[in-house]
Amino acid sequence: MAAQGTDLQKAAGILQKGGLVAIPTETVYGLAANALNEKAVARIYEAKKRPNFDPLIVHVSGFNQALKYARIMPPLAERLAERFWPGPLTMVMEKSNEIPYLVSAGLETVGLRAPRHPLTAALLNILPFPLAAPSANPFGYISPTTAEHVQKMLGEEVDYILDGGPCDVGIESTVIRVLQDEIIILRKGGITADDLRKLNVKLSEQIVSGSNPASPGQLSSHYAPRCKVILGKISCLLKDFNGMHKTALITFNQPALNWPAEHQFVLAPDGLMNTAAANLFKALHWLDDNDYELAYCERVPETGVGTAINDRLNRAAY
Ligand code: TXA
Ligand code: MG
Repeated sequence: MAAQGTDLQKAAGILQKGGLVAIPTETVYGLAANALNEKAVARIYEAKKRPNFDPLIVHVSGFNQALKYARIMPPLAERLAERFWPGPLTMVMEKSNEIPYLVSAGLETVGLRAPRHPLTAALLNILPFPLAAPSANPFGYISPTTAEHVQKMLGEEVDYILDGGPCDVGIESTVIRVLQDEIIILRKGGITADDLRKLNVKLSEQIVSGSNPASPGQLSSHYAPRCKVILGKISCLLKDFNGMHKTALITFNQPALNWPAEHQFVLAPDGLMNTAAANLFKALHWLDDNDYELAYCERVPETGVGTAINDRLNRAAY
C-alpha cells in the first residue's frame, strides 16, 4: 500500500528526491516523476512495465513553463494554449535539449500539457521542474480515475498517491501534433475535433492502430480489462448468450430490462456524454473487481467525446 492523502509538500518532497507520486488530473491519474531527472523517469517505465518506445507526456504549470521545453513554439500552439489550457489537450512539438530522450522515447518531439485539476496545478506551481506522467496503470491496462484504482494497480510501486477525488473528464487528453498552421490529431480525448475546428486551421487525424504506431495510446489492444468485452447491440448480444460465463452489461443511458440490475453498469443515467466519459474506466475496473468473465457493451452515440469513448471501447474489446 502506498501512503495516500492531499499533502502537497509531501508530494513535492518525494518528487524532488526522484520519487514517484500518483497525481490527479481532470482526465485520469498520472504516475509522475521529475521530467528532468532520468533516474526518476526510468522508474516510471519500470513501474508500468511500459515499453521504452512509448513517449511520456510532460506536465507543465502553464504556457510560460512550456516555452522552456519546446525548441520552437509555433504561434498556433500559443493560440491553442490560450483556448484549451489548463485542460485535456496534449500538444506534441519539437523538444528542447532539456527534455531527456528517455522522456521522448528517443523522438525529437515532446508532448506538453497543462492539467486543470487544482491539486496538481498547485503542485506544478511549487515545483521547479515539470512532471513526466503517463496514466497510472500497468501498460495496456485500464486507466485509473480514482486514487483507489491507482492503489489497486500500482500501490506497491508509487511512493505517494495525491488523492484528488474522482477525475471529472474521465478519459485521457486529446493528443495533437502542432505544426506551423496545421493540427494532426494523434489520439482522441477530452477535447473534441469540433472544439479544435473552431480555430480554423487545417485539421486532420492520424489515428492509427497496430503494433508500432506514432502514438502508442493507439495500439489496437489498450485500456483492456481482463474480462472479455464484446461490443454490439445489447438485445442482439443477449440472444447469443449461452449462460456459460459470469456476464455483465455496460450500457449508455438505459439499463436492459431483461437482465439483473446488479449486473449492469449504466454509463450515463442522466443521458449526458460527459457523464459517460467520467464513468467509462470506472465501469471497466468494476468488471475486473467483480470477476466478470464476459461483458456485453454497447457503443455510445458519436457526439462530443462519444467518439473518444467508442475508441476506448474498441480497444478494450480488441
Ligand atoms: O490525459 C492524459 O493524457 C494522461 C494524464 C496523466 O495526463 N496521460 C496519459 O499518458 O494518458 P499516456 O502515457 O498513458 O499516454 C500518452 C500518449 C501516448 O499514446 C503517447 O504515445 C503519446 O501520448 N505521446 C506522448 N508523447 C508523444 C510524442 N512526442 N509523439 C507522439 N505521441 C506522443
Ligand atoms: Mg495510458
